[in-house]
Amino acid sequence: MADILQNIHPGLHKADVEETRQGEAYAPFAGDPNLFSKKFYIESYGCQMNFSDSEIVASILHEEGFGATRNFEEADLVLLNTCSIREKAEQTVRNRLHAFRKVKENNPGMLIGVLGCMAERLKAKFLEEEKLVDIVVGPDAYRSLPGLITEAEGGQKSVNVLLSREETYADISPVRLDSNGVTAFVSIMRGCNNMCTFCVVPFTRGRERSRDAESIVNECKDLFERGFKEVTLLGQNVDSYFHSPHGGESVDFGQLLEKVALISPLLRIRFSTSHPKDITDDVLHTMANYHNICKYIHLPVQSGNTRILQLMNRTYTREWYLNKVKRIREIMPDCGLSTDVISGFCTETEEDHQDTLSVMDLCRFDMAYMFSYSERPGTLAARRYEDDVTEEVKKRRLTEIINLQNSHSRESYRSDIGKTFEVLIEGNSKRSDLDWYGRNSQNKVVVFPKNGKDLKKGDYVNVTIGSATSATLMGEMM
Ligand code: SAH
Ligand code: SF4
Ligand code: F3S
Repeated sequence: MADILQNIHPGLHKADVEETRQGEAYAPFAGDPNLFSKKFYIESYGCQMNFSDSEIVASILHEEGFGATRNFEEADLVLLNTCSIREKAEQTVRNRLHAFRKVKENNPGMLIGVLGCMAERLKAKFLEEEKLVDIVVGPDAYRSLPGLITEAEGGQKSVNVLLSREETYADISPVRLDSNGVTAFVSIMRGCNNMCTFCVVPFTRGRERSRDAESIVNECKDLFERGFKEVTLLGQNVDSYFHSPHGGESVDFGQLLEKVALISPLLRIRFSTSHPKDITDDVLHTMANYHNICKYIHLPVQSGNTRILQLMNRTYTREWYLNKVKRIREIMPDCGLSTDVISGFCTETEEDHQDTLSVMDLCRFDMAYMFSYSERPGTLAARRYEDDVTEEVKKRRLTEIINLQNSHSRESYRSDIGKTFEVLIEGNSKRSDLDWYGRNSQNKVVVFPKNGKDLKKGDYVNVTIGSATSATLMGEMM
């Protein structure tokens, strides 16, 4: 259980929750069920991009007369949107497929499709390895789903895993799945051109491409008009967003942030993920200039040792990273900061590991996702380096990292006691209908009593913090 995620913030941080199985996206029926002749069921694993893609898939399926169901036993089409980031993520998907086997035995007409990164990684091999799978579709091929479903209905196994240099699904209006009606993800780019040696994403998601800025702004406007109050702009490396339309003006990430921020001061903007080598002062100043751009950055460090960072091909040094954090805090002293850490990458020594702990001590992250290194077939690290840190050592180092982060999180949340934050209400607290649940600009969860006041989801309130755990702030409305 050491390789679990810490402090998963429901709502925003569905990223990498495959181990916890919180990452299921169920789709409620949208509109009149009689409009739909068939039913589909979809479950999503992995990062927010996958959740966002499932909403594009839902939209494509709606057009084909498929309505969503929360009950896979009654579905004509069962889809798993999969993740390959660590071996465990793939194992979760295989286990899930085995659970579907029984249902399919009783209902041979039911089609099972695998989408996402594992589909892309394994391609047609999936059909050999998992006999019950009928359809395999990679992340850039969702438009071909209707044709593939028709083929599969005719008894043929069907596969499309072509990656694209252009596809951004810009014109597809996502069907919001399992939405709280307040917060939504908006995909701004796809793929990744960074070749971090441990990472499978460049192979499963292809080349980086940015979505047309106007279509992004229009989607955000539409969400705001429908009552949404927060958008999270998504990409593997949002800071390298760059769109240059034919004959039009080019837009970089800072400019895009500004365009979205200008839609309304009542629409909050978040983004994920930033790469330490690409986040610019320009972006930091834009964040500082707009109250509605949340003061929160997820800035994965991966390791605190420069030699390991080089082997990972992260292209920054320990000092560069520390300097970035310094810059963030100079420009936005109140900015929340979280990170990703990998323990036990190839050749990591005890001293290298100590460097990671000391970087954490210096940065004092509010939250972190922490993993032990999992070799992924086909990645540069798998081809070039030996996975030579034993499982036992990886786990022990990970436990040390988790323990240190827990103490930092506790400290960070405790230091908020007595402060007042603007909180966007996202819904009832999980524990009690008498309490609201929301987040502050720094992305910390805030829970507070409703006190009989006439408020609703999507309202902003000021809350003064009275107590804290290492993952939640508790307070009272002002
Ligand atoms: N694009 C984002 C991260 C995407 S993957 C970024 O560059 O920051 C999310 C996290 O999973 C990574 O930051 C990394 O910490 C972790 N990760 C990726 N590949 C991994 C592997 N092979 N083993 C363990 N953790 C991994
Ligand atoms: Fe993977 Fe690196 Fe790209 Fe992130 S930036 S998706 S870790 S290759
Ligand atoms: Fe997983 Fe693919 Fe995202 S590998 S983390 S679902 S991009």
